[in-house]
Amino acid sequence: MNTLEAIHYRRSIRAFTPDPISDDDLITLIQAGAAAPSAGNAQRWVFIAVRNPKRLLAVQSLAPGIISKPAAVIVLCADFRQDDGSREAIREAIGYDLGAALQNILLAATELGLGGCPVGSFNAQGLAHLLNLPAGIEPKLLIAIGKPKFIPQKPPKKPLEDIFFEETYQVGS
Ligand SMILES: Cc1cc2nc3c(=O)[nH]c(=O)nc-3n(C[C@H](O)[C@H](O)[C@H](O)COP(=O)(O)O)c2cc1C
Repeated sequence: MNTLEAIHYRRSIRAFTPDPISDDDLITLIQAGAAAPSAGNAQRWVFIAVRNPKRLLAVQSLAPGIISKPAAVIVLCADFRQDDGSREAIREAIGYDLGAALQNILLAATELGLGGCPVGSFNAQGLAHLLNLPAGIEPKLLIAIGKPKFIPQKPPKKPLEDIFFEETYQVGS
């Protein structure tokens, strides 16, 4: 599967088979995330993979956005420990950085025959406690990962004529 194929084939997967995720596949996913661009190459991120069934259940109990049982959850965390004072700018940059890492992981999962779903609906405080996160490291987004039970249909996407303009924005075209 080439990159463009993976981009268009990827779907948010919300139904998984019981198959586990191998160590090799997990490392491939994390390496893909860590290869993403980041503002100033600061890489203010930490990735925590949960595969232990008991801990997975605990994560799920804190994350109503996970609607079926994944083989793993990857927690994308922002690392604010090297904060240089301009906290708001750093927060904004980290959002972009983690978004890029998210998409790299989802595309790598697609390539490996796995599937993932970003999950923004979770209890950040509870998760930080469960994962033993030190002060300055905050969970920002989860990715539920597993082998897809099926690939859902592509949900409606906005037509390009509504969201794409050449050269300048055009009103009412
Ligand atoms: C930041 C973010 C948070 C999301 N949170 C959830 C979530 O909590 N639960 C869920 O089932 N899907 C979640 N999604 C997945 C979106 O619903 C999904 O990307 C969207 O419906 C488009 O479908 P597609 O990914 O197959 O293109 C989230 C996606 C993003 C980017």
